[in-house]
Amino acid sequence: MENILILPGDGIGPEVMGEVRRVIDWFGTQRGFDVSLDEDLVGGCAYDAHGAAISDAAMEKAMAADAVLLGAVGGPKWDNVAYAARPEAGLLRLRADLELFANLRPAICFSALADASSLKRDLVEGLDIMIVRELTGGVYFGEPRGITDLGNGQRRGVNTQVYETYEIERIARVAGDIAMKRDRRLASAEKRNVMESGLLWNEEVTRIVSAEFPDLALEHVLADNCAMQLVRNPKQYDVLVTDNLFGDILSDVAAMLTGSLGMLPSASLGAPDAETGRARALYEPVHGSAPDIAGEGKANPIASIMSFAMALKYTFDRADDADLLERAVMHVLDAGFRTGDIMQPDMKAVGTSGMGDAVLAALNELGK
Ligand code: IPM
Ligand code: MG
Repeated sequence: MENILILPGDGIGPEVMGEVRRVIDWFGTQRGFDVSLDEDLVGGCAYDAHGAAISDAAMEKAMAADAVLLGAVGGPKWDNVAYAARPEAGLLRLRADLELFANLRPAICFSALADASSLKRDLVEGLDIMIVRELTGGVYFGEPRGITDLGNGQRRGVNTQVYETYEIERIARVAGDIAMKRDRRLASAEKRNVMESGLLWNEEVTRIVSAEFPDLALEHVLADNCAMQLVRNPKQYDVLVTDNLFGDILSDVAAMLTGSLGMLPSASLGAPDAETGRARALYEPVHGSAPDIAGEGKANPIASIMSFAMALKYTFDRADDADLLERAVMHVLDAGFRTGDIMQPDMKAVGTSGMGDAVLAALNELGK
């Protein structure tokens, strides 16, 4: 039996994860997906309960799970909490302790939603980029870090951008493998023109690709130029590999130009286990906790549902089920169901559970 830990988190997290549970149950009863579900706290709710953004007990469950499904963390309520205990710290601890170094963020423009993009339809229609973001290194975790008092009325804030060869090698391999299964085009973004860590990134990516992926077309792009290219002509990219901070920024740009931030899933993967071949994994929507609409039953559960589809594919080796779930979501969009974030004229307005109902109905229709 498989074992999933659900961490709904804060804000709209619990609502959207409620719909994911229904979808998981459907795969259990209709497709023989044999899974046991557990649930725990992460983020601000964990801080309120335990004084830490994730408890050791919840971390232990996450370590033992086949996959962790997370909703969202954070909210204004915890704005003044110290960094080490902030809601985001729970997410960062999960990434670090589970060694989830590879973050896959697909940016897909659903044609039913192309008009919701801030870019013109022809620039984004059919867009399908996979951003591969390094997730456990770089300036997010580099030492030294901190704020020191210089004693002369000045303070100094320090963070360290640091990468070692093995960190770049393993993320380049993940990106290379993915690109080989897609259009065999890989772009790598860094700032080698000002940063030594960027030059190292560039050289190591080149070395891995030429040694291990000779059939890939590799392009290097400066991260600032990449941001510009993403809004100028996003379809030029297929797979984009980049470091933790640039990946954070570029994936927000890519997500927004699909017009469907509320739709995008992500997977964070570790190294495959030597014996089982299975990697530690955490799946979460790209959107945040949306405290402004939390508890109102309005949130769009599709990004979380699509994150579970990624779990079916990448952890549970059920590509057919993942495909079925993705088709069910497309079907629902084509049929005109819309939550508020993606509402368009003449479409059918639904809330969180209404969208869940529509997905389940589509599964019943397509999954026969
Ligand atoms: C993301 C988020 C996180 C990050 C925050 C919530 C810590 O922006 O997953 O992109 O910066 O990585
Ligand atoms: Mg981000």
